[in-house]
Amino acid sequence: MRFIICEDYEGMSKAAADILAAEVLLKPNCILGLATGSTPIGMYQEIAEKKLDLSHVTTFNLDEYYPIKSSNEESYHYFMQENFFSKVNVKKENIHMLDGEAEDPQQECDDYERLINKHGRIDLQVLGIGHNGHIGFNEPNSFFRAQTHISNLTQRTIEANSRFFERIEDMPTKSLTMGVGSIMNSKTIVLLASGKEKAAVIKELQKNKVDPQIPATILTVHRDVIVIVDKEAASLL
Ligand code: F6R
Repeated sequence: MRFIICEDYEGMSKAAADILAAEVLLKPNCILGLATGSTPIGMYQEIAEKKLDLSHVTTFNLDEYYPIKSSNEESYHYFMQENFFSKVNVKKENIHMLDGEAEDPQQECDDYERLINKHGRIDLQVLGIGHNGHIGFNEPNSFFRAQTHISNLTQRTIEANSRFFERIEDMPTKSLTMGVGSIMNSKTIVLLASGKEKAAVIKELQKNKVDPQIPATILTVHRDVIVIVDKEAASLL
């Protein structure tokens, strides 16, 4: 695990966009794993400004709330369209996201898992990190879930993410998420974190102790993880 400490959020976003751009230039038909949340917004902006040709790229998003309509402004479908897909030339048929409107969520997870496996390994997986150490919506647990699954969001995640919803009651309490298997199977992983509220969980990554109660710690045994943080998130390292 390598740490890149940047001056600020902008520096973190630029560094992440550069890595992603290099991946696309080296392998135009690469498979990218994408995240949502506040953290990667700057990275998406930077990539859009680079005017890269992403027409051969395939994407898989990590997660989606459940249940949620894709037209809901807080859905991850809406987020990705607003912040990224509307600004770049990824082909619609190459974009893959879990469906928050699926009638049978378990079937949706199984199909998504199969689809990722059919495409092979993700070349570059972008991750944010929750205050509780979640990656995707792999929440703290007594064990790791390898496969795409339905996840019950913890109270801490509901409180943190309800900031985007008008009322806390509007926030779904479940999500569909890629499991740690596909994440760990990715060739390269770039984890982004910004702000002092992420400092404690970033410190946990430095301990090299895998603990399913802090799901991101599994990344410490992956051979190619780059953690890009701003100074505040790095303040306890
Ligand atoms: C989102 C995701 C989550 C977020 C995490 C951090 O697709 O997978 O794990 O990365 O909740 O969110 P922010 O960036 O809003 O602090």
